[in-house]
Amino acid sequence: MSQIYDRSDSKVEIEGFEARHYDLLMNLITAGTYPFFIRRVVRDMAIQPQDAILDLGSGSGRNACLMARHLSDAGRIVGLDIGVEMLAQARRRCRHLPNVTMEKQRIEETLHYREEFDKVFTSFVLHGFVQEDRLRIVENVYRALRPGGQFLILDYDEFEPEGSFWPVRYAFRHLECPLATDFVRRDWKAILCEQGFGHFLAYRYYFGYLRLLGAEKLEVGGEG
Ligand SMILES: C[S@@+](CC[C@H](N)C(=O)[O-])C[C@H]1O[C@@H](n2cnc3c(N)ncnc32)[C@H](O)[C@@H]1O
Repeated sequence: MSQIYDRSDSKVEIEGFEARHYDLLMNLITAGTYPFFIRRVVRDMAIQPQDAILDLGSGSGRNACLMARHLSDAGRIVGLDIGVEMLAQARRRCRHLPNVTMEKQRIEETLHYREEFDKVFTSFVLHGFVQEDRLRIVENVYRALRPGGQFLILDYDEFEPEGSFWPVRYAFRHLECPLATDFVRRDWKAILCEQGFGHFLAYRYYFGYLRLLGAEKLEVGGEG
């Protein structure tokens, strides 16, 4: 029988020590490899100089700063996050970047953006929501993207945690947000197809346990 999850299972809202030292903790957990990994991801995103990018759950702003390096003055990034400490770090870190703005916003609530972004990026955020809220986020993304724009999800790949390499199995059993188990068992291409996305691309990292999944917003009547 499949497990039922609710919002109390989520661990994705980060505060206190973990929020203030989030980047350092990620570096430690990945034995110092995170900065190289995230640079590679940003390269794989194929950002164009004039891109308008929406970053959902923008965290400490580290990713926004890296993405901004690929933009001209005509490009821009809007980061949305709910964590006060995360937002403070991000604003501090991006203060010298006039084309990056950070706003306090819950990403599962209806967003007001309509067809104004070329890319919507979200990293290590989506797995922490119940499926109902994930679908609300996907609907927000669909509305925010221009036709042909790309939804880029950096998160766990699809796999069975109980059958995975023991440290991953241990992390999923004891450390990671319980909703992550639900996330990795789902067929995300099929879900995104139903929501109007297609033309998928995928890059894999860390022995295939992480994936950057790109999905294009199709023109109405288009094919995946
Ligand atoms: C695991 S961190 C990832 C941060 C960043 N994307 C990164 O990869 O470094 C998750 C982020 O999502 C934010 N978050 C959690 N729930 C949120 C929500 N409902 N709306 C907006 N942001 C949220 C947290 O504050 C945190 O910054």
